[in-house]
Amino acid sequence: IGKKVIYYQEISSTNDVAKSLDVEEGTVIVADRQTKGRGRLNRKWISPEGGLWLSVVLKPKVAPQDIPKIVFLGAIGVVRTLEELSIPGRIKWPNDVLVNFRKISGILTEKVGEKVILGIGINVNNNTPENGIAVKDVLGKEVSLVHVFKILLENLDELYEIYLKSPGTIVELARELMILNVPVKVLGNGEVVGIAEDIDEDGRLVLRLGNGEIRKIIYGDVSLRFL
Ligand code: BTN
Repeated sequence: IGKKVIYYQEISSTNDVAKSLDVEEGTVIVADRQTKGRGRLNRKWISPEGGLWLSVVLKPKVAPQDIPKIVFLGAIGVVRTLEELSIPGRIKWPNDVLVNFRKISGILTEKVGEKVILGIGINVNNNTPENGIAVKDVLGKEVSLVHVFKILLENLDELYEIYLKSPGTIVELARELMILNVPVKVLGNGEVVGIAEDIDEDGRLVLRLGNGEIRKIIYGDVSLRFL
């Protein structure tokens, strides 16, 4: 991952460019700014200069049910990268990385044909929206974007090797970093509240409802209830 890097000062969305280009596996698209940065559920992702906005083109030869696990690969990579900057991050299922319960990073994976685009945004030296936080806020100083970029690519490369050999290991690693045993509200197909107890071997969120019933969530938007 990252043998080939395509850099733009400004682009609509690195995910969109990654989707449209015919490039070899491991190619990384990175931009200083995105004018149409996207998040999950069609949300806008504010992407000013100072943040790290990138997409990795993957062509994983794995079983279809293992494709969704790529989002964890990205999240673990971000947590490990933050760790090297002495910042403790945790994963909020399925695709956010939080520091002090504020969002520092988001992951957006998209599949087109044989390609899976792993889009990662990390607030580094940029100002963030209300509920966000950036590396510079935590450390009290700016850091080199290139440095963060390099360690992220190293981590992703290592994790992708693991993923290709053993997708289940990625779920195990993600579980250790996940915010669990907390009350949450899940919006998706209606609204459910419960305790986020675990993730299962396929990466689904295991929710315990008030009446003790267990509900597995495949897709949804989780908010933490105790904040
Ligand atoms: C989310 O939190 O919902 C996901 C945010 C993903 C943002 C990244 S920034 C690089 C890549 N390009 C995009 O347009 N989105 C992802």
